[in-house]
Amino acid sequence: VSDVVVYGATGATGSRFAEIAVGAGVRPVLAGRNRSALRAIADPLGLEVRVGSLDSDAELDAVCGGARVLLSCVAPYTTIGVPLVEAAIRSGAHYLDCSGEPRYVKRLIDQYDARARAAAVALVPSAGLGLCSNLVARAAVAGIERPERLTIDYRVRRMRPSWGTTRSTVALLAGGAAVVDGGRVRFVAPGGRVRRLAGGGTGFLFPLTDTLTCSRLWPEATIESYLRHPAAPVLAPIVRLIAAAGCGGTVARAVERLAPRRGSAEARGQFTITVTAEADGRPTTAVGDVADVYEVTSQAAFELARTLLEHGAEPGFRASGEVVGDPHETAARTGVHLRRVGQ
Ligand SMILES: NC(=O)c1ccc[n+]([C@@H]2O[C@H](COP(=O)([O-])OP(=O)(O)OC[C@H]3O[C@@H](n4cnc5c(N)ncnc54)[C@H](OP(=O)(O)O)[C@@H]3O)[C@@H](O)[C@H]2O)c1
Repeated sequence: VSDVVVYGATGATGSRFAEIAVGAGVRPVLAGRNRSALRAIADPLGLEVRVGSLDSDAELDAVCGGARVLLSCVAPYTTIGVPLVEAAIRSGAHYLDCSGEPRYVKRLIDQYDARARAAAVALVPSAGLGLCSNLVARAAVAGIERPERLTIDYRVRRMRPSWGTTRSTVALLAGGAAVVDGGRVRFVAPGGRVRRLAGGGTGFLFPLTDTLTCSRLWPEATIESYLRHPAAPVLAPIVRLIAAAGCGGTVARAVERLAPRRGSAEARGQFTITVTAEADGRPTTAVGDVADVYEVTSQAAFELARTLLEHGAEPGFRASGEVVGDPHETAARTGVHLRRVGQ
């Protein structure tokens, strides 16, 4: 019997999660569709391997057997994520993933929240960078009773995406950006708005799951998400065009044919997450620096897996930021350099 099963353990995120877990004394089962690729990662760590197809409920039930936490590291979640959510609910395991795809997270809220509650399991999507931005948001909101508006932005540098991240980025662009207003969600075109951001930079509207997860923490707030870039006014219409083509499947098919299948070990990228919270016209801002997105995503997923194992969580859809304790302590353990700015 194992406490944690990682499906998609051959990828950039899943394989780093396995190393981090073993380093902390937790022995996850490594699962996926390719036995020899799984063995190559599991054998040096002395871990058990389980093989199952996403097309077979019976195989996924066997993969999840005895697990208390299932971490899904597949990509893209929009097209292949759901069988693992269903398997976790059937097996009575808390479900974690590292999704950055808002349409998928909205589907979890709409279609699986009630089923997860009935099965007494928590659904915690976006457990990677999503946890980091929830922590930055909690730091920005600290001391504000009721934030009216949250603006979340990511600055990305030196990105060398994994194949899974590339495919998920196409899916999230095609799905649109989730703008939340007092709990009501609207999907709008990525690149559909350009604005100045905290600290003086510019950004364009970009799909991040953080608008949906932060809405759980602050249900009355208006929440938008941006990609920060010095050339935002030039990039925004290009992104809008790509997203529109992606909706028809053109971009997705081109990526499936053309994207280089480079090894997951080479994947890396630096992120700076900025969240500005406003109440009574007064803004407060917090910033989190992430030196390597894959390392921090895996650390964050492990932090959440450990928290679920040790303390559990209220059943149903949960924002990762409401499952953990103090944001500054959690950020330090996860490798996020978190600070308030400008006050
Ligand atoms: N925002 C964040 O926090 C953040 C950061 C990093 C990653 N992510 C997300 O996490 C997900 C995983 O990323 P990654 O970088 O680890 O991707 P990756 O290196 O490409 O790994 C993808 C994993 O999914 C498995 N997989 C793909 N298609 C499958 C299928 N049809 N059936 C079974 N398994 C399948 C792959 O197995 P095979 O080896 O058998 O192909 C591999 O184990 C992506 O959605 C990515 O966007 C999010």
